[in-house]
Amino acid sequence: MVERCEETDDMAFRSDLKYSDVTPKADYLNRRQIMAAAGGAALGAIAGPALAASPYDTDLAPNTLEDITSYNNFYEFGTSKSDPARYAGALTTDPWSVRIDGLVERPGTYDLADLLKGMDIEERIYRFRCVEAWSMVVPWNGFQLSQLLEKVGVQSGAKYVYFETLVRPEEMPGQKRRLLDWPYREGLRLDEAMNPLTLIATGLYGEVLPNQNGAPLRLVVPWKYGFKSIKSIVRISLTDKQPPTTWNMQNPREYGFYSNVNPQVDHPRWSQATERRIGGGLFSRRQETLMFNGYGEWVADLYKGMDLAKYF
Ligand code: MTE
Repeated sequence: MVERCEETDDMAFRSDLKYSDVTPKADYLNRRQIMAAAGGAALGAIAGPALAASPYDTDLAPNTLEDITSYNNFYEFGTSKSDPARYAGALTTDPWSVRIDGLVERPGTYDLADLLKGMDIEERIYRFRCVEAWSMVVPWNGFQLSQLLEKVGVQSGAKYVYFETLVRPEEMPGQKRRLLDWPYREGLRLDEAMNPLTLIATGLYGEVLPNQNGAPLRLVVPWKYGFKSIKSIVRISLTDKQPPTTWNMQNPREYGFYSNVNPQVDHPRWSQATERRIGGGLFSRRQETLMFNGYGEWVADLYKGMDLAKYF
């Protein structure tokens, strides 16, 4: 079993990162217009034609594709930030199926293509804040989890959604060790899962999701610490009880079920008040972490009346 740590300055000072690596927003928007003009046809079902700005987009400049695909957490491939880029290429993502079960009207094992049928793929430029106190800005492509849940039909007794990642040690070298209790597991309250911000990502930067980022489909919950955004999902289950979640099982004192980004509730071993933006350059200052990672206007109501130091 492993213990996660706050990123140190050693880990932070990667010599290959320069300020100019950050794609200026204007360039990116320009690129988006070009993609839209191309009709989105070449991008197929993954990126979709809907490249208009969403009301949820941050106006911060997205990180480069290089940043987003070379500095990852995906313990199935190892614990170092470079392990996923090194090893995840060997993961077979086609064929892929997702078992959907529990309190649903239409349970079954869905082929990826069937699951994606009818889903509205959008682009969402989201802030992403890891519990280790680093952050990025990622232009995801994906659909709202709510749309998938509507497709399979949620029964009235359902209160939570539970997710599992693939277990395939032959292709996932980290799973040959008991780094975590495999499969990686996550969960959301049903109202969190139905929130329009909650995304199932199938791509980024208008291209198919790279394996190291959780291909072929992963969760993205931008107001929660990054570990809630479970990768390479093979099971979605609707339950009436709060499901077990990997980091909470690993260390319940350090990681709660909710894991909302909260600068006022520190990790027991480090402060959560600030964060380091990946790709910001060697001399950039740490930034203040925002409550709910800046998404309070859409999600604060979900937690009205709850003591967020207790339900961390
Ligand atoms: N999902 C699985 N299956 N295994 C993991 O180790 N790491 C989590 C999350 N999802 C993880 C996972 C953590 S700690 C973070 S910060 C994000 O994935 C990292 O996502 P990224 O590599 O796309 O930035």
